[in-house]
Amino acid sequence: MCGIVGYVGSKDAYSIVIDGLKKLEYRGYDSAGVAILKDNKIKLFKKEGRVANLEAMVAEEDITGTVGMGHTRWATHGEPCDKNAHPHYSNSKQIALIHNGIIENYAQLKKELVAKGYEFHSDTDSEVLVNFIDDIRINNGCTLEEAVRIALKRVTGAYVILLLDESVPNTIIAARKGSPLVIGIGQNEHFLGSDASPMLAYTKEVVYINDYELAIVKPDELILKNLGNETVTPFVQKLDMNLSQIEKGGFDHFMLKEIFEQPSTIFDSFRGRMDVEKNTITLSGMDAVLDKLDAAQRIIIVGCGTSWHAGLLAEYIIEELCRINVEVEYASEFRYRNPIITDKDFIIAVSQSGETADTLVALENAKEQGATLFGIVNVVGSSIARLTHAGMYTHAGPEIGVASTKAFTAQVVALILFALKLAKHRGTISDERFAELVNELNVVPEKVEWIVQNQVENIKAIATKYQEANDFLYLGRGYNFPIALEGALKLKEISYIHAEGYPAAEMKHGPIALVDETLPVVFVATKDRYHEKIVSNMQEIKARKGMLIAVASEGDTHTPEIADDVMFVPDADEIVGPILSTVALQLLSYYIGVEKDLDVDKPRNLAKSVTVE
Ligand code: M6R
Repeated sequence: MCGIVGYVGSKDAYSIVIDGLKKLEYRGYDSAGVAILKDNKIKLFKKEGRVANLEAMVAEEDITGTVGMGHTRWATHGEPCDKNAHPHYSNSKQIALIHNGIIENYAQLKKELVAKGYEFHSDTDSEVLVNFIDDIRINNGCTLEEAVRIALKRVTGAYVILLLDESVPNTIIAARKGSPLVIGIGQNEHFLGSDASPMLAYTKEVVYINDYELAIVKPDELILKNLGNETVTPFVQKLDMNLSQIEKGGFDHFMLKEIFEQPSTIFDSFRGRMDVEKNTITLSGMDAVLDKLDAAQRIIIVGCGTSWHAGLLAEYIIEELCRINVEVEYASEFRYRNPIITDKDFIIAVSQSGETADTLVALENAKEQGATLFGIVNVVGSSIARLTHAGMYTHAGPEIGVASTKAFTAQVVALILFALKLAKHRGTISDERFAELVNELNVVPEKVEWIVQNQVENIKAIATKYQEANDFLYLGRGYNFPIALEGALKLKEISYIHAEGYPAAEMKHGPIALVDETLPVVFVATKDRYHEKIVSNMQEIKARKGMLIAVASEGDTHTPEIADDVMFVPDADEIVGPILSTVALQLLSYYIGVEKDLDVDKPRNLAKSVTVE
């Protein structure tokens, strides 16, 4: 939610900042702005819409300087428009601020400031914060750094803030609580970003800033302090990422690139962990908490959106293979409903970004109750990765498309590995079944490759045929029910078509009333233990004149006789098969979005990383 970039050094700050904003645009794209500090003057430009609008606006301006910051916004307080774009000046115009997060007590702070005569030019909580900080600076006669420290002790909510002060040359002050901030270390220069992508071309050495830390960033110096003004030693880490991973590489969209990358990302998520020859699974992160798993009475999986769908699928798989009770919770509900958690609970958090606010807070609450936390996270060094006691990275690489694709399939692989290892440890799986699933997982990459090589034209044609529909129903049973949910979510996000996922057998308890000749119903109807039953459900839809689209196993000749259109996936074991069906559904959503001429990489109203509640 909102992307922030900063630079202090000797290069042209504007170009670094604008380039960084383009890389972070996936985090929000309602408006964009920059501020450059030069000769004790802040020059500030901001514009509604994409970064390209800002760039066009600034094209004729003199905006040279070696210190600057920029922001791309996902609106929380105040509609997307020029005045609500960041950066925001304080009333004195000496300070400018960019902010990612939400200041929860902004209304109270604003009331106090209004009583003192402050004027506001936007509807944002961020403008309140910059004035609150500046008011402290002016009244206490202190430095901006001290004012920030004092102010943040009164602020509730989540933030990453970057500030420029006209009286402090060559310096950005930054602070974080609850939203991500990375500082890249170069030769006499520093880079700041919501993630590492803006700095990747310049440095691989980064420091992930922790909550309640404040950074004073100069070209040749990075000072970190906590809010108690004690110095904190920066922990420098090496980035394991390269530029090509965050570029489109010849594809029209990141989403398509990321769908096509899945043969290799799926392989990467089990590479070095699963040994087919030796028939073993090695997960060192899991070894560290095996005693906790032994003591656990249940496993609770928390996540949001697509990550929640991966968790739901894992519930089916873990219960089947490990015979332990699994509960799956929306993090946003779990954190607020006062759940009963004990030190016997083992919590798995699933998150691509590792920064989702709801998941993060749900984990913090559970940690306080003594639960063991295990993270299944994609972004290395992210907040969830650091908060959890142990975990495993999904190794999907940077996912830029706002709709999650390769991150989901990597999560599913990670969760299958987790289930297999736990089943072996608990003695709930036979050697034969273990070996069978290891071998099945091992050939998933080539089966996904088959889909992207052989089904694209067919799926494009299906997309063209159904793109005008107003609603879609997605149905699946058992392991394929979470895939129906994921398919529906993907379609909603990318095409803005209303879509609902449902357990196929539940259809007759209500949704069947929706069925008529205008409703496309997508069945995940691959060969598994429920196949006969799902075929019966398809017949029920056909009898009511619904339009039938099926995901079917290659070689199945019966399903095409019933369905109007079929997307084929290679035959596979029912536990790994959902990965293949997912890929077909991702392609369907993608091509419907493209048919409708929509921005599939940046769907309206969404952001990649949801760091607000
Ligand atoms: O980064 P996370 O996996 O924690 O994000 C969770 C959801 O916000 C995310 O999966 C969202 O639903 C995506 N837009 C799905 O495509």
